[in-house]
Amino acid sequence: MDNKVVYIETHGCQMNVADSERAATRLRAAGYELCDSPEAANFVLLNTCSIREKAERKVFHRIDDIRRERAGSLPVIGLMGCVAQLEGEAIFENAPAVRMVAGTGAVDRIPQLLGSIGGGVRRAIDLEGRREGEIWDASPSERRSKHVAFVPIIEGCNKFCTYCIVPYSRGRERSRAASEIVEEVRGLSERGYREVQLIGQNVNSYRPKSDAGLEGFRGATPFARLLRAVASTGMPRIKFTTSFPRDFDADIVKAIEEHENLCEWIHLPVQSGNDRVLRSMRRGYNVARYLEKVAAIEGSRRRLSLTSDIIVGFPGETDAEFEDTLKLVERCRFEGLYIFKYSERKGTPAATMEDTVPEALKTERFLALEALQMSIEREIYQSYIGSFVNVLVEGQSARSSSDLKGHSSCNKVVNFRGPSDLTGRIVRVRVTEAKTHSLYGELSVEA
Ligand code: SAH
Ligand code: SF4
Ligand code: F3S
Repeated sequence: MDNKVVYIETHGCQMNVADSERAATRLRAAGYELCDSPEAANFVLLNTCSIREKAERKVFHRIDDIRRERAGSLPVIGLMGCVAQLEGEAIFENAPAVRMVAGTGAVDRIPQLLGSIGGGVRRAIDLEGRREGEIWDASPSERRSKHVAFVPIIEGCNKFCTYCIVPYSRGRERSRAASEIVEEVRGLSERGYREVQLIGQNVNSYRPKSDAGLEGFRGATPFARLLRAVASTGMPRIKFTTSFPRDFDADIVKAIEEHENLCEWIHLPVQSGNDRVLRSMRRGYNVARYLEKVAAIEGSRRRLSLTSDIIVGFPGETDAEFEDTLKLVERCRFEGLYIFKYSERKGTPAATMEDTVPEALKTERFLALEALQMSIEREIYQSYIGSFVNVLVEGQSARSSSDLKGHSSCNKVVNFRGPSDLTGRIVRVRVTEAKTHSLYGELSVEA
């Protein structure tokens, strides 16, 4: 095949976004061209997620779509990401159109894998781990945004919550050297990036092999020290996600207080408001411990925005236990909440527990929690009216071309009127109106 045009479609979390950017970097270096739609490509890579059954099923629907749309000239279809890692060889049997499977540790070897296909070789697979010395960062030109960059700091997960597939699809925790992270952030800053998001399944479990790059930065945990080191690069805005409650040290709050460029947003998934359920999920904390972390966040002299995730309908969850979750949500008043119905994942300990909550009841609980959260969020969003927020302008809003849209440093979507040449700038906006999940305001001055 002489023209080598690749289309990468990314599903799942920020880690997959970062992996796609890295794969694109490697492919471009190996002489491939990248394009924005599957029609023009002769290689289609689907970067997959298997966190819930629905996410996993989506991949196979997408393969069917591509087969239908490109019936006359079927591209080489490849899978990467979590489904690729978990299903491996079985994918070739279940979806014969797939010709390449690259596991989560094989991102940097995708060009070789694709290159090995052809001339009698129909399929290629690589499920091995990341090799020593392989790159972590993507070339800025392959990044999804010119203003906000994802920077992975830790991969994998050692927690083994009983419902979760991630430790199996991503392997054990591996932290990236601090000196490398700081250098990448500096490079991004020089290229005009205004925000980095430090990402990992659990960023605050960050534990590099050596102290290199952290010398001179005080802090109780390596993550708090890393935050200070990254803050000292002068990158205008630094966000991080996701924080694992058990490892959330109050020192993180202190670091945020010391550095204006560490943003006032903390995503701390609680999963349930009941101790028995939390134990059965093997989360490693109880409600009281979680509330201690919340108190540290609420006690900060900066107004920190706290968001969370909750699973409803975990095996064995009773009405009373679900009520505890409602109570916790009332107590915490999260500024944002992702609610999920429990989805059984094969191979996890929870899959062997009896799924006692029928689908209809899961839906009922989902809706009850959603209604509660909406009423809390309405009040919180209203409370922003009259105040000023700093917004990184990402572009025009979907509503109208004279409206701009961006995220505040507290991670709210903010819409306001202004000229499109403000894109990529950080501006100050006075909030005048609040809607569901977004704020509206007026441009004040350039920050
Ligand atoms: N590492 C993060 C979560 C990463 S997964 C943490 O521990 O907090 C993102 C979210 O997906 C989780 O917070 C959880 O709410 C949800 N999730 C994970 N596995 C799930 C499952 N089997 N069913 C439903 N939701 C799930
Ligand atoms: Fe999954 Fe738990 Fe790891 Fe989060 S901490 S990725 S929920 S196993
Ligand atoms: Fe999905 Fe894998 Fe991320 S399962 S959420 S893509 S780590």
